[in-house]
Amino acid sequence: MHGTATLFPNVQFIYELVLAQLELDSLCTAFEINDTLSSVKLINVKNDQRLKSRLAYFQTVNGEYTDYCYISRKNRTRSVNQYLTHWIYPYKGKFHPQMIRAALNIIGLQPGETVLDPFIGSGTTALEAQLLGVDCVGLDASPLCVLQSRVKTASREVIKEIRAQCETLPAPSWGEAGLDEKALNSIASGADQRVQDFFRLAKLVALSDSVRRKKDFALAFDTRTKLMVQSVTDYDQIRTELKL
Ligand SMILES: C[S@@+](CC[C@H](N)C(=O)[O-])C[C@H]1O[C@@H](n2cnc3c(N)ncnc32)[C@H](O)[C@@H]1O
Repeated sequence: MHGTATLFPNVQFIYELVLAQLELDSLCTAFEINDTLSSVKLINVKNDQRLKSRLAYFQTVNGEYTDYCYISRKNRTRSVNQYLTHWIYPYKGKFHPQMIRAALNIIGLQPGETVLDPFIGSGTTALEAQLLGVDCVGLDASPLCVLQSRVKTASREVIKEIRAQCETLPAPSWGEAGLDEKALNSIASGADQRVQDFFRLAKLVALSDSVRRKKDFALAFDTRTKLMVQSVTDYDQIRTELKL
């Protein structure tokens, strides 16, 4: 049976088109690209479910949205491709998540197999691998990179505890005084390490906002913590919805 897969409208660079073809090749699908370079004809496609759940550069397969289409909609920031927890913490020089999803497809990694990223940075490979059910070992010389990679991938497991901790936080209207060094250090102290890591990173994001963007620290901490909780919740929900 023949079928059709349409590329995302924002696929515009030659390298993206090449990666799109390589991921189709790797998923063992014969295809022909149409003249407008916006879709492909799938020839004798046997398992369109697999294509839907794995592809990175395609919006639809046989008229149905791909998993990546649903995943990439879970973006609460203004930047493209900073969906789920990818956005957490400003980090220059990170991989494009969509490219990493395609690379994992091209390598042919299956759920339960492991990818090693010896320069994990902001954790892009770790999160994209996790979305495909692929294990990831990440290394980095920077403790901040290790922390952000952990928070982006592990907070989902303790989202209830994180929400419960949020209930105990001082209101931002208390200002800096309500969030002095002692109050900050006591947040989640004694809690599960993953919960502690979440709030440690939230503090660093707020610190970055207050130093770089001259925002009030207490307000930034409150806003960023809420956005982080929403993003982790999005991750938890999409995981259930798509049975990831
Ligand atoms: C460009 S960043 C990687 C970004 C990553 N691909 C991402 O998507 O966020 C390179 C990383 O390599 C780390 N690094 C550099 N030299 C290293 C070394 N010798 N051992 C471990 N990590 C190292 C740096 O700390 C930095 O986080």
